[in-house]
Parts: sequence; structure tokens; C-alpha cells
Amino acid sequence: MAKTLIVGSDHAGFALKKELCDVARELGYEIEDVGTHSTGSTDYPDYSHQVAKAVSCGEGLGLLVCGTGVGMSMAANRHPGVRAAACGDIYTAAMARRHNDANVLCLGARVIGPGLAAEILKAFLSSSFEGGRHERRVHKIELPDES
Ligand code: RB5
Repeated sequence: MAKTLIVGSDHAGFALKKELCDVARELGYEIEDVGTHSTGSTDYPDYSHQVAKAVSCGEGLGLLVCGTGVGMSMAANRHPGVRAAACGDIYTAAMARRHNDANVLCLGARVIGPGLAAEILKAFLSSSFEGGRHERRVHKIELPDES
């Protein structure tokens, strides 16, 4: 079955998103790009919510790119079952998958360069959830009133 990566960006992340789509395609991912499709000024939550809805429905993993990755992650994490991680280094991206079962990677195009961004994306896509004790902890993320 084809692996799908649902991608979105605002104007700040548009150029980097395009480069990262090529990286993901080389890794065998089909790309579903919800926009934006130009450098015209946009609102990042519009794209974050679209990607998060698709990930929440189980359509694939998500990639969101804005200026910092922060606004995208905040909006995406409002959706049930979505665990969006804003990452600025390779180790965090791998561990977000392995320990936190992250399903959306958020990157900041004004913070990291395209070379590092590509390596972060590769680490994210090539890592998998380890389960075990992390299963219980990830489950507790959804239970803010029970601790
Ligand atoms: C857009 O100027 C910028 O605020 C946005 O890309 C993002 O960094 C928000 O988190």
C-alpha cells in the first residue's frame, strides 16, 4: 500500500514545503498537498486544520511548514488523535515518532535551513513508534483530567 504524506504550509513555509515534498517522494511517499500554493500571505491554521483532519481520519502522516512550526503545531494538536511535534533537530524528530507516536511533523522555515529540514523529515519518516511503556504514556496525553 502506498504511504501517504499530507502536507500543508503557509506563505512562510511554501518554498521549503516544495523541497520537502521531493524528499518524501524519493522515500516512496505519495503527497497530498492541501496548500498554500503560492507565497501570498495566508493564515497558517487554515492549512494546519486541513492536514490534521486528514491525519485524524487515518489518511497518513502529516507535514506542516510555517515560519517557526509553532502555530502549525498548536492548531494541529486541537484535533483528536493528532500528535503534532515541532522539531528543530534530527534527534527530536526521531524520538517524537519512537516515544510519542507523533503523526505530524511541524517545521519552521525561518528557523532551519533546507538541508537540516530534509534530514529531520527523513528521521521522522524512517522512525516508528516503539510501543511498550510508551503506549501508556501516549494514551495519557488524551486524558488531561485524570492525573
Ligand atoms: C507568519 O508570519 C508566521 O507567523 C507563521 O508562519 C508562523 O511562524 C506561526 O507560527
